[in-house]
Amino acid sequence: MDFLQLAADRFSVRSFKPDPVPEEIREKIIKAGLLAPTAKNNQPQKIIAVSSAGGLEKIKKCTASHYNAPLAFIIGYDKTLCWQRSFDGKTSGDIDASIVTTHMMLQAASIGIGSTWVMFFDPEAVKSEFEFDGNTEPVAILVMGYPADDCKPSPRHFEYKDPGEIVSYK
Ligand SMILES: Cc1cc2nc3c(=O)[nH]c(=O)nc-3n(C[C@H](O)[C@H](O)[C@H](O)COP(=O)(O)O)c2cc1C
Repeated sequence: MDFLQLAADRFSVRSFKPDPVPEEIREKIIKAGLLAPTAKNNQPQKIIAVSSAGGLEKIKKCTASHYNAPLAFIIGYDKTLCWQRSFDGKTSGDIDASIVTTHMMLQAASIGIGSTWVMFFDPEAVKSEFEFDGNTEPVAILVMGYPADDCKPSPRHFEYKDPGEIVSYK
């Protein structure tokens, strides 16, 4: 599929069929996260795949934006593994984990698996429910599954700013 078409067609899916995502599809989505570029190729990302009944109950304790998805990924990074810019000390973890999440989201969309990127979660709840070590920060919860038959993009999906407000040419 043409990349721009995939980017245009993808939308946040907030209504799912209860059907589980098959293991081979889950692994393909994980592979996309493993192939993502990271600063200096340090690969600080941590990916937790959650599909057990107990794990999904824990997800519900961490966010209201779970949409009863049958699969969720928690994507984070290990603070000790990030690259750090010497000029100002900025670290790459949030950026690395966001690229990983984007890869996974688009890989899923390309094979008919819907997802929503969730930032509205309680990070302390994620850390305690999923027994994070002290070095790992959660960045995103990517809830996913097969879109419900009546699933539609939200009106916000179609709201794009004028490119002139965003892009400049020098
Ligand atoms: C960083 C980030 C955080 C987001 N957090 C949430 C969230 O917590 N809950 C939710 O329902 N959607 C969340 N979204 C989905 C956005 O609302 C959605 O991508 C945006 O409105 C555009 O709609 P579309 O994805 O259908 O094109 C998030 C998206 C991004 C990129």
